[in-house]
Amino acid sequence: MTKGLILSGGKGTRLRPLTYTSAKQLVPVANKPVLFYGIEALAEAGITEIGIVVGDTAAEIRQAVGDGSRWGVRVTYIEQDAPRGLAHAVLISEAFLGRAPFVMYLGDNLLNKGIAPFVREFERERPAAQILLARVPDPQMFGVAELEDGRVVRLVEKPTAPKSDLALVGVYLFGPDIFDAVKRIKPSFRDELEITDAIQDLIDRGLEVRPHIVDGWWKDTGKLEDMLEANRLILDTLVRRIDGQVDDASRIEGKVVVEAGAVVEHSVIRGPVIIGAGARIVHAYVGPFTAIMNDVEIRGSEVEHSIILEGSSVCDLENRVVDSLIGKNVRISRVNLKPSAYRFMLGDNSEVGIRW
Ligand code: G1P
Repeated sequence: MTKGLILSGGKGTRLRPLTYTSAKQLVPVANKPVLFYGIEALAEAGITEIGIVVGDTAAEIRQAVGDGSRWGVRVTYIEQDAPRGLAHAVLISEAFLGRAPFVMYLGDNLLNKGIAPFVREFERERPAAQILLARVPDPQMFGVAELEDGRVVRLVEKPTAPKSDLALVGVYLFGPDIFDAVKRIKPSFRDELEITDAIQDLIDRGLEVRPHIVDGWWKDTGKLEDMLEANRLILDTLVRRIDGQVDDASRIEGKVVVEAGAVVEHSVIRGPVIIGAGARIVHAYVGPFTAIMNDVEIRGSEVEHSIILEGSSVCDLENRVVDSLIGKNVRISRVNLKPSAYRFMLGDNSEVGIRW
């Protein structure tokens, strides 16, 4: 039986300051942690044995995922002492994986069509590895594949002069030959054991590496813009459901989910939008592509194309909040005091953009 290996370590530097206090894989997209979409994708492909490689944020990941029974899978946690690369994660997972073929899934990746057909293809063809590729506008940010007559001839991690626009998606299928490869390679320019180099080693040894171009969309949610885009793509698939309390003075337009226990008063909500349990939206406007988590308060303000995490509040702002990712328990409000000024208390690496 094919097993699953989800990588959920890493420092998430591109999502600071949120990742100072929380794992990047647990930042929610449409109010659900990114990581859960990956677990669902594996479960849907019939994979029930899943190893999750964890690092500094191990406790938080364990707490959120538990034993996997919620998805009908069995989760084993594998501790990685430091972010030493994706190939290193494979290396330390050998005892868990044994000789079984496995899917390696990067915990911050999202694919809308799932991975079931990709897994079936691998089980039928049994190459040494199967990789997923997607065309991207900025291939130098990824591992890049060079194909010749439909065959993979070269893979390069973060090339300065990419030979193609085909990026390696963070979902890979491997047979047991990968273990020799991860033991043979040396650390890269960023001092990590790169899975890209390990797959190149398979190619160099004449083993089959099958490419498969992704249909549908793929997102690596490592940065703010990608997070917002993933949020947009998932929110677009919402089915309208109003379980919370909406008063007669409010208008709910289009694909909107209002969870039970949320309250909407004197407000306009224009979907796609999701509003979590316990949230309060009062005298407010919540515009398209916004995800509001549990216990958030939006009062006398307008918010659009943003993600707001648990327990935060946005009150009495004059201008609309847009394109924002706001962490947990953040307070943003306008107060009637003179002299008029901005007053901030922001964590390290915070970002504030005042548009005028
Ligand atoms: C990793 C891989 C890269 C791949 C990317 C996909 O990059 O090294 O080859 O294209 O995931 O998300 P990283 O996120 O470690 O920079």
